[in-house]
Formats: sequence, structure tokens, C-alpha cells
Amino acid sequence: MAKIAVLGSGTGSNFQALVEEFGDEIVLVISDQPGAGILEKAKAFGIPTAVEVGGADLSARILKRLGGVDLICLAGYMRLVKEPLLSAFPNRILNIHPSLLPKYPGKAAWEQALADQAEVTGCTVHYVDAGIDTGEVILQEKVEVLIDDTATTLHARIQIAEHRVYPQAVKRVLKKMSGRV
Ligand code: GRF
Repeated sequence: MAKIAVLGSGTGSNFQALVEEFGDEIVLVISDQPGAGILEKAKAFGIPTAVEVGGADLSARILKRLGGVDLICLAGYMRLVKEPLLSAFPNRILNIHPSLLPKYPGKAAWEQALADQAEVTGCTVHYVDAGIDTGEVILQEKVEVLIDDTATTLHARIQIAEHRVYPQAVKRVLKKMSGRV
């Protein structure tokens, strides 16, 4: 059984999708936002939580909490992952991003897609490196941009795709890590 930690700053809908697939394998949720919905969701599932607010040594503080963890999933985590955390988990930190990377990295990627009048956008699960949404792509799913889409409707449809693609990508990575079927 793998041990997965989830880092998030927001509502935690992707976290919920991961819990529905991996259950007890999710052993810890860490947030930089004391009031984040992801913490409430974790508590409701009986999953241990921790809060580590921003600061120069944030990645070091998070690392200290991750003894025994095999894989880290960022799920709406709004901070850069830095050393020493990156080197401690090589190819063991994943992120979900709401665009077809390398298109539209950074914040509000669905708004970038709308501003660009893109016909198609989507979501990407990728390995995390030191850059902003630059790591190797693991899995992507396309989402069509509709003529009457607003930022809200487009983001909502991308999130539905995210909830499908993130568990699939994690399964793929766990299989690679351990040879499990
Ligand atoms: C998702 O759209 C994800 O792509 C982005 O942040 C959002 C998090 O949403 N990185 P949630 O907290 O999982 O609902």
C-alpha cells in the first residue's frame, strides 16, 4: 500500500477525487491556508491534517512532516515547491493544472484560454520540478471551449475532467513505482 500526502490551498475537490480512488492510501493533508476547504474535507474523511503557512523555510517544514510518505500530490496548492522537498521526492511530486500544458501555465489558466479564444483547453497531470507548471507531462484530457463559456462554466467543466484524470495519473505513477497492477 502506498502512502500519499496531498498539499492544497483551496476547496479540495481534486483531493476528494483522490480519496474516492485511493482511500486509506491518503495519509496526510497539508495546507498553507488555515481556513481551506481541503482541511475540512480531510477531517470529514478522518484523514490527518497539518497547516504550514508560507515563509522561507516552508518546503523544509513540510518535508519534516512527510516521514514514510511515498508520493506527494499537489491539488490546488498555490505555492512553489522548493528545496529541500524537491530533491527528497524525485519524480514523486505530482500536480494537476487546468490547461493542456505547456499552454497557459500559471494562474487562472482557464481565463488565459478564454482570452486566447482557444477552441480547446483541458487539464494536465505532471511531475513537479522547480519551474512553474514545467515538469514532465503524465496525462492530459482535452476540454472543448464552448462559444458561450464564461470563466466559471469553463473552469467547472475542466474540473470534472480533472477529477477523472488525476486518479488515473496517480495510478499510472504508483504502478511505475512499485510494479503494482
Ligand atoms: C484546480 O482547478 C487545479 O487544476 C488547480 O487548482 C484547482 C484546485 O481545485 N491547480 P480544488 O481545490 O481541487 O477544487
